[in-house]
Amino acid sequence: MSPHSLKKLGVGVVAVTCLLAATAASAKDKPSWRDGRQVFKKCEACHSFKPDEHRFGPSLYKVTGRKAAGAPGFPYSAAMKQRGTEGLAWTDKAMDAFFTAPRKFVPKTKMAFPGLKDAKDRRNVIAYVKRMAKRGR
Ligand code: HEC
Repeated sequence: MSPHSLKKLGVGVVAVTCLLAATAASAKDKPSWRDGRQVFKKCEACHSFKPDEHRFGPSLYKVTGRKAAGAPGFPYSAAMKQRGTEGLAWTDKAMDAFFTAPRKFVPKTKMAFPGLKDAKDRRNVIAYVKRMAKRGR
């Protein structure tokens, strides 16, 4: 192989590597509510998005940005009510922390869920919750 074609090969490898890195980065940054729907299967025994349809957990209708323990008519734990009174609201950041380790973020919460360890699963499920919370079904 001539030095010239070797150089071309090198440029090609760099270009492909950059492309792969860019693809991985954009897939990582863009949450997918479609993938989140799969993740939410772990939640739906306890949560619905229908207004006032409470299961073991509160309806998540309009939960986005709302203060903690804000669904009318659900018997929240004292711990969750306290956090709401203190000003906790369900931003992306707060949901991420709660879904990572519910009992660490809100000690003594009634939400009997171990948590989602995968950051991508959390991003996706948050996208799904936000989408569905608006629609209410
Ligand atoms: C075993 C039932 C159960 C499962 C599974 C569960 N939750 Fe919950 N969730 C609850 C309960 C109960 C509460 C209320 C907690 C309290 O009062 O301390 C709650 C509270 C919440 C809240 C706060 C609602 C508010 O109005 O303040 C959000 C958001 C939430 N859950 C989302 C999820 C998501 C997303 C999943 C799946 C990754 C999930 N939950 C899995 C039972 C569950």
